[in-house]
Amino acid sequence: MSSVSRGRGNRLAWALTGSGHFFTECLDFMRQLENFDLFVSRAAAEVIRMYKSRLPEGVQIYRDTTASAAPVGLLYEGIYHTLILAPATSNTVAKCVYGISDSLATNLFAQAGKCRIPVIVFACDTAPELETMAPGGMVKVWPRRIDLENVEKLRSFEQTRVVESMSELVAATRERLECLGAVSS
Ligand SMILES: Cc1cc2nc3c(=O)[nH]c(=O)nc-3n(C[C@H](O)[C@H](O)[C@H](O)COP(=O)(O)O)c2cc1C
Repeated sequence: MSSVSRGRGNRLAWALTGSGHFFTECLDFMRQLENFDLFVSRAAAEVIRMYKSRLPEGVQIYRDTTASAAPVGLLYEGIYHTLILAPATSNTVAKCVYGISDSLATNLFAQAGKCRIPVIVFACDTAPELETMAPGGMVKVWPRRIDLENVEKLRSFEQTRVVESMSELVAATRERLECLGAVSS
């Protein structure tokens, strides 16, 4: 039996996880993009309220409400050219690295890999000491060795680009869209 070969789609899939680190900045950036669908982890749906932020309007939003992560079936339909996982919590990064797919975000990562869809991950825990925005203001955090090691391991994954800052995320996204001839303003 031969498999059906579908062409590369023209949409971006963006998975948002429950990381306060650059959460609102990621939302601001995605508002500049076109042709993307948003996948929201259960934690992200809570965190967005804590930061008194809002999801972009006029965008198809898929929430994490099913045990099977049903929306990942869209990846098999060949409609997405790229998955952006941003910001990515240490929880989601750890699961991705160890091949666990038990949430919408981790299932998207796993299935993107299996469908050979390139992934850009903006991992939160990229340095031993970070300033991050908590709902009450800036706080200092010290990611653990395991968090930093997991980010390093993620770099070795096929078709996976790990970025460490908003500027790198913007550049990697634009680069990808330009390479596909799909740049949006
Ligand atoms: C206000 C708030 C901010 C958070 N910020 C972070 C963060 O910057 N990085 C992180 O790894 N986890 C952060 N968390 C914890 C995650 O939301 C939590 O680990 C959650 O289980 C992650 O689920 P997910 O990876 O499926 O989105 C934060 C939680 C809250 C309530």
